[in-house]
Amino acid sequence: MSTQSAPWGQHFIQLGNNNQSFEQATAFTQETINDLFRQADKPYSGLSPVTVKDQLQAVDFNQTQSLQSVITTVNELIAKNSILVQHPHTIAHLHTPPLIASVVAEHFIAALNQSMDSWDQSSSATFVEQLMIDWLCKTYQLGERSDGVFTSGGTQSNLMGLLLARDWFAFNQSGHSIQQDGLPDYGHKFRIICSNRSHFTVQKSASLMGLGERAVVCVKTNLQGQMDIDDLLLTIDALKAQDLLPICVVATAGTTDHGAIDELDKIVEIARKEQIWSHIDGAYGGALQLSAKHKYRLKGIESADSVSVDFHKLFYQTISCGALLIKDKSNFNTLLHHADYLNREGDELPNLVDKSIATTKRFDALKLFMTLKSVGADTLGEMYDKLLELTLQVADLVKHNDSFELCCEPLLSTVLFRLSEKYQGSLTAAEFNQLHQSLRLQLLTSGDAVIAETKVDGKVHLKLTLLNPCLALSDFDSLFTKIESHAVTLTKKAL
Ligand SMILES: Cc1ncc(COP(=O)(O)O)c(C=O)c1O
Repeated sequence: MSTQSAPWGQHFIQLGNNNQSFEQATAFTQETINDLFRQADKPYSGLSPVTVKDQLQAVDFNQTQSLQSVITTVNELIAKNSILVQHPHTIAHLHTPPLIASVVAEHFIAALNQSMDSWDQSSSATFVEQLMIDWLCKTYQLGERSDGVFTSGGTQSNLMGLLLARDWFAFNQSGHSIQQDGLPDYGHKFRIICSNRSHFTVQKSASLMGLGERAVVCVKTNLQGQMDIDDLLLTIDALKAQDLLPICVVATAGTTDHGAIDELDKIVEIARKEQIWSHIDGAYGGALQLSAKHKYRLKGIESADSVSVDFHKLFYQTISCGALLIKDKSNFNTLLHHADYLNREGDELPNLVDKSIATTKRFDALKLFMTLKSVGADTLGEMYDKLLELTLQVADLVKHNDSFELCCEPLLSTVLFRLSEKYQGSLTAAEFNQLHQSLRLQLLTSGDAVIAETKVDGKVHLKLTLLNPCLALSDFDSLFTKIESHAVTLTKKAL
């Protein structure tokens, strides 16, 4: 091979037998990572954020080193100061410990570096993505005309779902093509309906789509955190009475804080009757479709116009990995743009760019492929069953601990709670809120635990998001002991 004799040949993967640089680098990296995991005993090193930043800023990019010493530097400065998602006390966000199958798939993905936009850049990989999409459409029972595309995650999937909804609505309304002509003169009347617990990416998408965040109308939620169906009906009527145009209803299958799953079947049916697009944000709870026990909670998902599913959450995939699924593939046409160099009209081979807002795109589908083949969908479903059961047990621990007050019964795999009144003493409500914020930060920067905080009815709460199906109840005994101990220290300071 000629490429290895170039002066920089050692920096590239070479075909043929002469590939020591790659083999040595990957072996050394793997050894380094294995050592890191072997020695890790905290969710975070506990190094102060300022020190982490200063150490990184001291790296001199004018001076190169061997790759082996760069790997060592990366390990010392970055890997060792990362948030270790595998630690039982890293339990803040929808941030998952990845399956080994997914991590190993990343080796293939990175080394092969396929780009999913055109078949001539991704050959077999194109078929893998389509195979996974077909599997998903079948799993979510979306029907014969359904299709989908891999995305970078829930944000992109939600944006795409809403974008398709907007374009579909304008075309149905007046034959207007937003793709060609931009927003119609009645575009300022477009409204997107969601609940007040929906993810903020609904507002963000509205802004990116030229509708503005004010085009999003939030419906009330009931005591279970679900969209209030009566209020949804009232909202639609009220918007119409004001000569406004509801274009899409976004239902959530698993709200980020409470894990509430809206009544999807009712919402989708209302949208259908009103000739409004129905989008389901299933980034978190959409995974329950694999659980024989909990699948019934997603009833109605099969009739939605579009569904966001996130694999880097409950499917335990490495970041990033998500998909948007749609009921009628013809709606992808509004994304189609032929480029002479890439996806000529009439190409016989499939070019996935035809239905994507990204051009160059990662081969993330391989991760799901390897997971389904090695772990299996049923096992993933069993993991969710175990996780949801464990979440209820953790909530019970909170209820029976006089240091804490449980905010509400868990609906999926989050536990929301506060310190009990005994920690409030003479602190005002604002100071008590602040105490919770300091507590979370203190747990993080000490390296003891990574938990989250959020506000419920104006009060700061602590949040645990359980994703790791390997956790045991005993992991929570020790977590709560740590939280109590930091709370005691901080309360003494605050009073
Ligand atoms: C309900 C919901 N939708 C959408 C998103 C955004 O997904 P991503 O972070 O994958 O872009 C999240 C993220 O937590 C979420 O919880």
